[in-house]
Amino acid sequence: MIYNFDSITERRGSGSVKYDLTAKFFGKEDVLPMWVADMDFEVPDFIREAMAERMGHPIFGYTYRSEKFFETVASWLQRRHGWRIEPDNVSFSPGIVPALNMCVMEFTAPGDRIVVQPPVYFPFFSAVANHGRELMYNRLLETNGRYEIDFGHLESLFRSGAKMLLLCHPHNPVGRVWTRDELEELARLAVQYGVLVISDEIHSDLMLFGNRHIPLASLGKDVADLTLTCIAPSKTFNLAGLSTSLVITTNPVLKKRYEKMLDAVHVGGGNIFGQVALEAAYTHGDEWLDQLILYLESNYQLLYGHFREHVPEMVISPLEATYLVWLDLSFLNMHDDALKDFVISRARLGLNDGPMFGPGGAQHQRMNIATPAAILMEGIGRLSKAVNERH
Ligand SMILES: Cc1ncc(COP(=O)(O)O)c(C=O)c1O
Repeated sequence: MIYNFDSITERRGSGSVKYDLTAKFFGKEDVLPMWVADMDFEVPDFIREAMAERMGHPIFGYTYRSEKFFETVASWLQRRHGWRIEPDNVSFSPGIVPALNMCVMEFTAPGDRIVVQPPVYFPFFSAVANHGRELMYNRLLETNGRYEIDFGHLESLFRSGAKMLLLCHPHNPVGRVWTRDELEELARLAVQYGVLVISDEIHSDLMLFGNRHIPLASLGKDVADLTLTCIAPSKTFNLAGLSTSLVITTNPVLKKRYEKMLDAVHVGGGNIFGQVALEAAYTHGDEWLDQLILYLESNYQLLYGHFREHVPEMVISPLEATYLVWLDLSFLNMHDDALKDFVISRARLGLNDGPMFGPGGAQHQRMNIATPAAILMEGIGRLSKAVNERH
């Protein structure tokens, strides 16, 4: 079956953060929203039909997750990423950010040092700081828009007593897919210094241009023993509003402690529709996802070609995964506040402002390209026009 990603669905009035809160966040109604990381594509039929079938039963009381739920997750990971786990290695979370917070609370103590690698998805910072733990930055190294891990500095942070690393894999917002060599080096250091790794792999299904996702915990027992992996169908199938995510570990001690925390804060119940949607997505979603990936690749190529021609000075980070493009606008020589205002007022775009991603984020903007090509063209056209008419 051929799926249509070109059709435009009106999202205004649907309670959408991206569309309905534009004026609140950008102070203007007429910005084109290309910020929050969800997609403008409709959830595929086979997921909506499964949800509608459950809706047909008129009672939505407390439910539990069946064995099939966990088997479906294991089978998806095996099929998509060649990672063999047992259904019993899988735990529930109402979201990945809640999982990061619960892991920080359960596995570290106030004052402990936790490493993050900015520029990175901003809730990584609050997941540490909100609980009185100390943030340690291992800034990514950048060359011409391509980012790498600074292993020398990472080792010095581990040696100086860091307890945990929050890994973003693939990395939002810089679009990197960490390679086997990079992951092996990271695993080696984590094992050597006994650092627990929370590997946020929420974007791992969205591999572009032939890149392959290697789950950190799939590298071997040593590293698996100190890793909790976070995944979800929310980015992949546009289900973020259903609050259904997963935490995976093959270490039974970590699993027990994670689930103890999940019970303590009492958020393990979940959402019946999220459960049904997850099972349908992970059972029937391969073909739809393969087509989505082709569409996202084509969108990135449209963006890249357009900006190369019209804004050749702008450095665009190579997009290896995700649908979030990291744009370096430092050639405009504006202060960060002026740049933010320029994007909102002159380009009339709602993007994510680089500084929110921490050190290394200045002078950058993040653009969400998971939208029909016509909307994408409108957005990139607005930016190039504003840049070229700025004088
Ligand atoms: C790296 C990363 N982790 C987590 C999330 C959000 O996860 P959740 O909505 O399940 O809390 C996002 C959303 O953009 C993300 O990019």
